[in-house]
Amino acid sequence: MSNSNLITHLRHVGFAMPQIEEQRAFYSKEWGLTEVAEQDGVYFFAAEGSPEPYVIRLRKDEKKRADVISFGTGSRANVDSLAEQLLRDDVELIHEPKELSTPGGGYGVRFFDLDGRVIEVSADVEPRTYRELEPGESIPEKISHCVVNSPTPEATVEWYEKYLGFRVVETLHAHERKLMWFMRCANPQHHVFAVGSAPHVAMHHVSFEMRGVDEFLRGVGRLQRDGHELIWGPGRHKTGDNAYGYFSDAVGNTVEYTVGMSDVEDNWEVNNDDVTDPEVLDTWGVSNAWGEHVVQKHFNTPDEGLFVAPPL
Ligand SMILES: [Fe+2]
Repeated sequence: MSNSNLITHLRHVGFAMPQIEEQRAFYSKEWGLTEVAEQDGVYFFAAEGSPEPYVIRLRKDEKKRADVISFGTGSRANVDSLAEQLLRDDVELIHEPKELSTPGGGYGVRFFDLDGRVIEVSADVEPRTYRELEPGESIPEKISHCVVNSPTPEATVEWYEKYLGFRVVETLHAHERKLMWFMRCANPQHHVFAVGSAPHVAMHHVSFEMRGVDEFLRGVGRLQRDGHELIWGPGRHKTGDNAYGYFSDAVGNTVEYTVGMSDVEDNWEVNNDDVTDPEVLDTWGVSNAWGEHVVQKHFNTPDEGLFVAPPL
């Protein structure tokens, strides 16, 4: 039975790191999210234009790690049937389906993916009151997608196809070597998740959608004026047709401002794009060049929390 309608969207990403105060200041004062709650030492940040109760959560820890990647699903029954399938296949659950105590509540299950990332799938989360962003407001409207690094990307992609029902819509390669697999969920957005080939497991980047191209460029400019290095951009990818501007957060996780990602049809045929074609990575041709510096930032540092559940 196909489970391609299981996941409706990306809800939030959690990070842990020693430098919690620097990181809180980055996501609220620089990146443009709103700190909305604190619970047991975890800080929650919402995007002003999004009904999700939060899109980023931060926790102080001696280790630098991704705490959780959370996806939405349409019903409690979906959460239960996913948990049953995971248990049948001996996938390690962190907790069985239960009422969640985090902002917005809901009903969810947590488990480790193939590489040891913590994944949460939840339903019935109470939406936050949000607002339409004003013209010129250069803060994120919502979370768009996240990309993860894996030393065994083909196996990771298969795992996400099997359990979360993701479908590959496009791949990137260079000289026959596959570099990245872009995956969609039930909604038509080109990708909500992607897996990159890398030397270690880590977060590749987390991406936030801006109100429009004007607000995207204003945001990229604002961060540069505030002294943040624009790692790569501003440009537009052929894959997904979205604009990109990549920066580092306070501890070196890569974060992206994006806008304009395309939708895909259900009968979409998988494209394989070659990054040695200059229009694939940088359609507009105005971005700084992609190269080793960008690649190293995207590889990030090895995640120090694999197969370890965060306390919240
Ligand atoms: Fe991206």
